[in-house]
Amino acid sequence: MSTTETVIRYVFLAAAACLVLGLHLMNSPATARRGNLLSAGAMTVAIGATAVLMADQGAITATGWIVMVLALAVGSVAGLYLARTVEMTAMPQLVSLFNAVGGGAAVLLAVEHIRQEDVAHLLPQVTVPGGLDIVIGAVTFTGSLVAAGKLQGMVPGRPIVFKGSGVLNIVLSVAFAVGVVWLVVDPTSVWPMLLLLTASLVFGVTMVLPIGGADMPVVISLLNAFTGTAVAMAGFVLGEMTLIIAGALVGAAGAILTKLMADAMNRSIANIIIGGFGTGDDVSVEAGEAAAVRSVSVDDVAIQLAYARKVVVVPGYGLAAAQAQHELAGLGELLEKHGVSVSYAIHPVAGRMPGHMNVLLAEANVPYPQLREMEDINPEFGQVDVALVIGANDVTNPAARRPGNPISGMPILDVDAARNVVVVKRSMGHGYAGIDNELYSAPNTGMYFTDAKRGLVALTAAVREFVA
Ligand code: TAP
Repeated sequence: MSTTETVIRYVFLAAAACLVLGLHLMNSPATARRGNLLSAGAMTVAIGATAVLMADQGAITATGWIVMVLALAVGSVAGLYLARTVEMTAMPQLVSLFNAVGGGAAVLLAVEHIRQEDVAHLLPQVTVPGGLDIVIGAVTFTGSLVAAGKLQGMVPGRPIVFKGSGVLNIVLSVAFAVGVVWLVVDPTSVWPMLLLLTASLVFGVTMVLPIGGADMPVVISLLNAFTGTAVAMAGFVLGEMTLIIAGALVGAAGAILTKLMADAMNRSIANIIIGGFGTGDDVSVEAGEAAAVRSVSVDDVAIQLAYARKVVVVPGYGLAAAQAQHELAGLGELLEKHGVSVSYAIHPVAGRMPGHMNVLLAEANVPYPQLREMEDINPEFGQVDVALVIGANDVTNPAARRPGNPISGMPILDVDAARNVVVVKRSMGHGYAGIDNELYSAPNTGMYFTDAKRGLVALTAAVREFVA
């Protein structure tokens, strides 16, 4: 090993350590930005070090360099543009597209390496991870594209189930097993790779099509774990430690996130994959007589807030849909200036993506210490004067405490324990789970029917009148 190569290997190791540290920093909103920068920096250094290594080994022709620099430029500009212009609500689609390219790239690495490699070196240590890389990467590629299409409305969000899909999936699974064994036995043949590639690309589509659009964030997290696993497999194929570490990190983090999301929704991953609620076609399980609700005016709400000592805001998907985070932050600031203690209760699956509410409120510069996790804030609701629920529904529904409905067992924010509850939403429309919310008919609940953005502007103006 040349001195340059030795140095580069240490650089790779340092980059991998920075990736681990970056991931750790993402544990808290206060340090997440630094974690992101550190990880991106480590990745940039690793790419640069790879270029130095290739130049040192003279492994790349002039044309190769031109192609690589061009590809890097196109990819970087496209990635930067997409990341800068994407709407916060379209973030899951973007992550899904990134997963697709990650999975696709891992497949290309394996195919190219196996085709180039001297047959004598193609031991099972290379062909087994190679075959798995092709399967996992290609499933991720098409699966992620379908998932992004569903969220973007380009593919119907309802579950698409077709006759014979069960049989097809069994056939495809057999094809995977046959393909991997065939590749190990005869690595010189192109056919096992073609079989694996075709079966996996089809499986990605047939796996995601039957899943309802609203379950897509969990599926995307699962596919993210797949991308990491495919990259780690590519690392085994190439004998590249950095790829193995980076891929394993993404794979493990994605798997943990998927499990956490599924747990917070009280659903098993198998249940999500097989399909269920969240299809958009759900009907109310509480249907029956519509319970009476108390409608309140903007002035009623403003008086309650202005005279409260402790207000807890409960943001949900409707806040994101209305893009009303800045208006909410403005109201919170006004109340704080008036001496009201304001905090924001964050449910782990409020919204439609992990950390949705944290990101939304951070965007509006709500101070981090005011953000309170569910377990932390729940015991305090009894001392809360006003719980102000903005566009949140399922995460506040007391029905979760009873068995026999789609959200049974899901931990909720104990909003109903507050002295007064004000719910800001447009109608009696359901949330993601498609069931009635009994919080709305509770005697201490007032419904302020309005779009979150419009309502918060009016509410801020009304509060200002009272505190002036
Ligand atoms: P939801 O239960 O989905 O309720 C959102 C509410 O917002 C709706 O009832 C809707 O009522 C209201 N709304 C929509 N647009 C609005 C607007 N412009 N202004 C005011 N209100 C508006 O939201 P949640 O409480 O945040 O719960 C999240 C749900 O999504 C959970 O069931 C969770 O399991 C599921 N889920 C979450 C994730 C992640 S990772 N966060 C992923 C998949 C699924 P109106 O139509 O009457 O206004």
